[in-house]
Amino acid sequence: MITRIVDQQHIAEAANIIRSGGLVAFPTETVYGLGANAFDAKAVAAIFEAKGRPQDNPLIVHLADFAALREVVKDVPPLALTLYEKFCPGPLTMIMPKGDKVPDVVTAGLQTVGVRFPSHPVARDLIARSCPIAAPSANVSKHVSPTTAQHVYDDLAGKIPLILDGGTCQVGIESTIIDLTGDIPTILRPGAITKEMLSEVCMVATHSGEVKVALAPGMKYVHYSPKCDCTMCSPDEIAAVYAQSVANGCDTVVLAQRSTLEKLPISVQSISLGDSPTAIMHELYAALREAETKYRLIIIERFEEVGVLYSVMNRAKKSVNLK
Ligand code: TXA
Ligand code: MG
Repeated sequence: MITRIVDQQHIAEAANIIRSGGLVAFPTETVYGLGANAFDAKAVAAIFEAKGRPQDNPLIVHLADFAALREVVKDVPPLALTLYEKFCPGPLTMIMPKGDKVPDVVTAGLQTVGVRFPSHPVARDLIARSCPIAAPSANVSKHVSPTTAQHVYDDLAGKIPLILDGGTCQVGIESTIIDLTGDIPTILRPGAITKEMLSEVCMVATHSGEVKVALAPGMKYVHYSPKCDCTMCSPDEIAAVYAQSVANGCDTVVLAQRSTLEKLPISVQSISLGDSPTAIMHELYAALREAETKYRLIIIERFEEVGVLYSVMNRAKKSVNLK
């Protein structure tokens, strides 16, 4: 069931479910999460089952505050406090050495654990009333992450007892992941907290993709894929690719920022991603989910990879399934 209006009673009910070993989908500022008690191996195993998630893909543990780190992390590096004070609560996941209390199923056997402190008030309240919550995004494995309770329902109805509806997620893509276990802090997954922002606090590297071992195991999987064909074009190519596709009898839609759409013929089917980089980040997943139900081909605008649009392009490229 989806609780349409979340009040204290619903959060208390959700906290009860979590404490007694069940699963709850809940809003965060990035995307919706599918949560279980991070210290309950059986409950966490049920997350993998509900999502159809590969067993080798570790989960992020969601905490209320810095003090809670003691329970889940072995040696908290000094930089963690600096990053916490600057960016948390917020869309930043830090990888640190795993504490003994965290079951192996959470970290897929890794000796490190990803932790984050979500800023969404419902997530914070839920954690405060229950315990550290292990949660991946609340989508069926390999599908686009959910940014509304309805998206979660569309993927997981019948598989979980409760979805807390906290409205549309403000950020719209998953958290930035930074690995603090190596010599140099390394971004494993870009997000709303950009390399430029992190660089103001510490030296930071970006996982180049050339490294043979996938450092964030989840990044090796096809992710964020809509259920129809999807391609990407620079703004000046869109009109021609669209026309060719429609001429081939294919229902086609363009996902682009407003200024790009305004230059296209009025007849072009489109979903606007808005006007600004943060709007595009906010809209992308909802637009992909809307488009996949109505069209056979999605054309996504190729954006210049600066600031948060670097992170948006990281996700958009993973949606593309046509060369
Ligand atoms: O914004 C988010 O991070 C959302 C919300 C719900 O918090 N969660 C999320 O979880 O995106 P998920 O499971 O969809 O993605 C987690 C990513 C995966 O790519 C996983 O491989 C990586 O984090 N990860 C988790 N623990 C890790 C670890 N110890 N070392 C390296 N990567 C890790
Ligand atoms: Mg995910």
